[in-house]
Amino acid sequence: MLEGCQIIDFNWVYLYLNDAAIVHAQKSREELIGYTMMKAYPGIEETPLFERMRKVMKDREPDRMENPFKYPNGNQGWFELHIQPCPEGILVLSQDISDRKLALERAHDQLKRLNALHQIDRAITSNFDASVVLESVLKQIHQILNLDAVAILQLDPVTQDLRASGSSGFKKAHLEDLSLKMGKGIAGMAALERRTIAIDDLANEPTFVRRTLVEKEGFVSYVGASLVSRGETLGLLEGFHRSKLTPNKDWLHYFNIVANQMAIAIVHMRTFSDLQKANQELMMAYDRTINGWAKALEIRDFETQGHSKRVTELSVTLARAFSYSDSELVNLRRGAMLHDIGKMGIPDKILLKPGKLSDKEWKIMKQHPLIAYDLLSNIEFLKPALDIPYCHHEKWDGSGYPRGLKENVIPEPARIFAVADVWDALRSDRPYRKHWSDEDAFAYIKKEAGTQFDPRVVEEFEPYAMEALKVQ
Ligand code: C2E
Ligand code: SIN
Ligand code: SIN
Ligand code: FE
Ligand code: FE
Repeated sequence: MLEGCQIIDFNWVYLYLNDAAIVHAQKSREELIGYTMMKAYPGIEETPLFERMRKVMKDREPDRMENPFKYPNGNQGWFELHIQPCPEGILVLSQDISDRKLALERAHDQLKRLNALHQIDRAITSNFDASVVLESVLKQIHQILNLDAVAILQLDPVTQDLRASGSSGFKKAHLEDLSLKMGKGIAGMAALERRTIAIDDLANEPTFVRRTLVEKEGFVSYVGASLVSRGETLGLLEGFHRSKLTPNKDWLHYFNIVANQMAIAIVHMRTFSDLQKANQELMMAYDRTINGWAKALEIRDFETQGHSKRVTELSVTLARAFSYSDSELVNLRRGAMLHDIGKMGIPDKILLKPGKLSDKEWKIMKQHPLIAYDLLSNIEFLKPALDIPYCHHEKWDGSGYPRGLKENVIPEPARIFAVADVWDALRSDRPYRKHWSDEDAFAYIKKEAGTQFDPRVVEEFEPYAMEALKVQ
């Protein structure tokens, strides 16, 4: 008979137990027959099970319940209990439903873990900030796997150090206490041999080398899985527990899946930070190039020294009044620095001519925005900065060059820049004329508002120029 059967009298004394009930009771028949339940199981009166039995004793109505219990090995089991009134007192029929119950629990756990994995995936793909990803993953592992502490060790390929880059649940230990040499101790060997290891009792495992860590934290059990991606060892995922941990196959399987996800995350993060670094280096290289070009141009056209820098600063000041975003300002800045890059294609004979240009020379000089366009449009990174080099000689009334654009059809950065450029050009000596006074330059720009210049830009420029005039 698979079903347990026991009879308990009105005084809670065991009268009868069949063999299955003896197995379920986890005691011998001699320990039970003739004894009360309270004597056999001290504290049972406080349990929900006893409460239900008491009710059946009194009300003489059958009841049914599912009751958890612990196997002698500590594992959790479940009984389905039918409690029925009988002439002697109550009859308790018990059936071990642990398998069914555990299967259900497992499905539920797996769902939770799946959901956690999904969240880890989302963290990996949506957020490349390494610390945020690590934190999110560690929190998930901590919760779902019921570990007291978890840590990620990343391998430094040069020194072969496994260095902790994230942890959760440690009370006293620092990240440095977690670090390990590749191949050293049982954990270092697991990383080296790309294995997963579980140690249920660290006290009996002398090959686990981080003794201070174990003692400081009171860890009893350990589990470690190597992080491997495309044949490269990246590190170690570690779990610690302050009481005995006996992971089953499911649990270890999930731990390994998490370790795999982790390895993917690390590869992503590395690739991304490499990309970011490369990008940053590229940006810096480009900006150095840009500044270098502008300088070279100023050296050649030696009387315009510092012009590029000055008009750039003034353009940025004006653009702020038009609420430019940071990235728009970056492009404006680059465009302004490069505004006359096209003059590189203009012969000295023309560029440095002390007097007025002939019609033929002027035709060539007017090519410089087109030359700039040809130069810069092939550089992906500078495309968004093209407006100024290409359009800074367009005029509000459509009489400018190279395309004769009018009013708002002229890109705004170019309209802003044109005011800054002429303001600075007029006040500087040129091979073809001496510099103008600030007052004359200011009067000229005001006069040209609505013909050469965008009147809104001149309006924003005025207070700036007034300030400059006062300083003198
Ligand atoms: P730039 O000398 O840097 O002048 C930039 C812009 O400032 C000019 O664009 C113009 O709008 C304004 N500007 C500069 N000087 C004067 C001026 O004396 N009077 C007035 N009303 N506006 C002035 P623009 O006219 O399209 O000229 C473009 C570039 O062509 C100049 O750059 C300069 O490199 C060259 N250029 C223009 N006119 C002459 C010239 O008579 N002789 C020579 N050698 N080069 C000239
Ligand atoms: C230069 O930027 O060096 C050329 C002069 C000018 O833009 O006015
Ligand atoms: C020029 O572009 O050739 C003169 C200076 C300027 O307007 O940028
Ligand atoms: Fe120009
Ligand atoms: Fe200029």
